[in-house]
Amino acid sequence: MTAQRVLTGITTTGTPHLGNYVGAIRPAIRAAATRPDSESYFFLADYHGIIKCRDPQQIHESTRAIAATWLACGLDPERTVFYRQSDIPEILELNWILSCMTAKGLMNRAHAYKSAVDNNLAAGNDADYQVDMGLYSYPVLMTADILMFNAHSVPVGRDQIQHIEMAQDIAQRFNHHYGETFVLPQAEVDENVQLLVGLDGRKMSKSYGNTIALFQTPKQRQKAVNKILTNMKEPGEPKGTDESPLFAIYQAFATPAETAAFADALAQGLAWGEAKKMLSAKIGEELDPFTEKYEHLLAHPQQIEDILQAGAAKARVQARALLDKARYAVGIRAL
Ligand code: ADP
Ligand code: TRP
Repeated sequence: MTAQRVLTGITTTGTPHLGNYVGAIRPAIRAAATRPDSESYFFLADYHGIIKCRDPQQIHESTRAIAATWLACGLDPERTVFYRQSDIPEILELNWILSCMTAKGLMNRAHAYKSAVDNNLAAGNDADYQVDMGLYSYPVLMTADILMFNAHSVPVGRDQIQHIEMAQDIAQRFNHHYGETFVLPQAEVDENVQLLVGLDGRKMSKSYGNTIALFQTPKQRQKAVNKILTNMKEPGEPKGTDESPLFAIYQAFATPAETAAFADALAQGLAWGEAKKMLSAKIGEELDPFTEKYEHLLAHPQQIEDILQAGAAKARVQARALLDKARYAVGIRAL
């Protein structure tokens, strides 16, 4: 039997935040550590980064910060394949082959593109105003990332499920036409983790500038947590778990028993200010032990670079073999 392959990536824009951690980094590292029969592929999606961000300095710094985050949070580069998307040119070749197998109508339905169109129409603009081909074809590149390594399982936050379904669709279409070539991937979403909401009430996202960073001093973290939206209820007034996004964030870091106790305390009138102190401490319990390693790596980028180069060398062996198979399947062969 072939090993189960787990694969996930993070776009290299901005500083990694709590959502990235609970939605992708933590489940991926746990899966790698607890399933000895699995093979893990974790990567920095920098070609996806340049879709959303046109600031070269930010792409560069974010790549370093996200790599340092993975490593500080426990990724073991000996036991996993850890690489930068742009170091694997085979992914871009596969991207083209898959583009030729992707229905335009499928891309029209992608959330990111659809919401750009909706916003344009609401503002009275042309539907495709400021939409570039990178944004439009984003799900095909993501499909290439996944199919390139025949991943079975893709740990992601809920917002990415549609993209994994598109990858299944495209793989199925290819296999149907050219014969069995790609594994059909499954999204793996942590049941206990909601899509975390950011400081402005929208999804916590690097693109919205509404995030709580993973690594900061307790004081900085408390300051960020204090900005989470709540209502005007006074201390002593009963509060529901759905009255502030802080409950879902607490849940993402606590055991079920701690979560139940927190819900109980809110129902008994716990003050929002106290709840925020408890939340900040809970996050710190999990993340503070990783901070020193994170800071060390940030200060020694060559160490990260060496790890990424070694990862790319491992990844490219796999990628080459599958790309050759796909090229052969479509008729691109030596004469
Ligand atoms: P961002 O929206 O901040 O740019 P990415 O698109 O790079 O984040 O997402 C990387 C991973 O982190 C994905 O698996 C995504 O589902 C997960 N993720 C991002 N934001 C959140 C969130 N608010 N809650 C849970 N998971 C999230
Ligand atoms: N699109 C993902 C995101 O923004 C990042 C990503 C790129 C990804 N390629 C991937 C995630 C492949 C999982 C698998 O969250």
